[in-house]
Amino acid sequence: MATIIEDRVGSEAVLRRHAAPNISFDQAKMLAAEFGTPLLCVSRSAVEHNYYELVNGLPGVEFFYAAKSNPDATILKTLHRAGCSVDVCSVGELKAALAAGFTPDQMLHTHPCKTIDNLMTCYETGLRWFVYDNAVELKKMAKHTPDVNLLLRVAMTSQSSMINLSAKFGCAASEAVSLLCQARDLGMNIRGIAFHVGSQTLSPDDYDVALSRVREIFDGARDEGIELEVLDIGGGMPAPYRESVLTLEDYCAVVNRSLQTHFGDLNIRVIAEPGRVISADTTTLVTAVLGKSVRPNGSTQYIIDDGLYGSFSGKVYDHTDFPILAEDADFRPTYPCVVAGPTCDSTDVVCRDQDLPDLEIGELLLVPTMGSYTNASASTFNGLDLAKAIPVA
Ligand SMILES: Cc1ncc(COP(=O)(O)O)c(C=O)c1O
Repeated sequence: MATIIEDRVGSEAVLRRHAAPNISFDQAKMLAAEFGTPLLCVSRSAVEHNYYELVNGLPGVEFFYAAKSNPDATILKTLHRAGCSVDVCSVGELKAALAAGFTPDQMLHTHPCKTIDNLMTCYETGLRWFVYDNAVELKKMAKHTPDVNLLLRVAMTSQSSMINLSAKFGCAASEAVSLLCQARDLGMNIRGIAFHVGSQTLSPDDYDVALSRVREIFDGARDEGIELEVLDIGGGMPAPYRESVLTLEDYCAVVNRSLQTHFGDLNIRVIAEPGRVISADTTTLVTAVLGKSVRPNGSTQYIIDDGLYGSFSGKVYDHTDFPILAEDADFRPTYPCVVAGPTCDSTDVVCRDQDLPDLEIGELLLVPTMGSYTNASASTFNGLDLAKAIPVA
């Protein structure tokens, strides 16, 4: 789980969230002996801690955990028990959420462009809150599911996010009122606006910019006689990887202040779809060194038993730079090396720029913050199994 460290910016001390494993090397050795590697250790207490930190930090906001970040059963069941709701995008995520105990009234469907099968299966299961961002989707939903509650997703590109969640979805802010009116004219229940400042958003101020723009849309809708009652502030809060990030309190302080400034005079329901801020630091990967060679260019290359096609897929799709930790690294000399995954594909290189001690075959490495966009997007390429995920305290 992340730890809070004190950093210095000039002469000022600032607190930052720093990646740290949720198990020790001794625990990793015992778990690896029992379950094998690669092994994803999912901490239930970290899931609870992250959820309650959000609940306490953003009073009055309801949380729909973004199952896409990690639909692992331990994470979903722990969140369900803690009282969280869930954001699903597909029939697969719907089934995972149902299996974890969520009921359809605790779910929000956030895919702005759904297949009829996805839409109808979720609807027939009882889900009634959906997102759209274009007129074609609206007509599809008016035809098949006319009585659902709708949120319009609006694009909000932010300056500081590592992943732009408005590149593919979200209508232009200038189109928003017209799309709301079209929903009303089709007799649909238009309830509110959803937006995302991005994912792995490094500056909390991006929420303030977005919330002030969204308030203009609420006002534009009111001018057309549409009273919006739900504001969905999406996901976006970051997790620490090789770089530390601002604390959750820093984000909550800005969001609370901005909600008060821009929406304090309205009596609305505020919801959020947090993904990685809940799931990322709950999970530590235990991976073993299975090969070692000196390449023709003189660099030492280690092959480990998980890679880009497996849990490190986040490096490809999510642009994540994961920290890789060796036991007692502070007390052993370290050297530049290449760490590569287990497939035969030469693009399967996990990192080229981390210094590690002289590693032995079979030695275990720990990779913290492996809980978001990792095993969720992993494949079995080359006939290799996915990393096993197990719950830990
Ligand atoms: C619709 C939707 N909601 C929530 C999230 C979660 O974002 P994050 O993990 O940055 O909190 C995403 C991320 O892709 C998303 O697409």
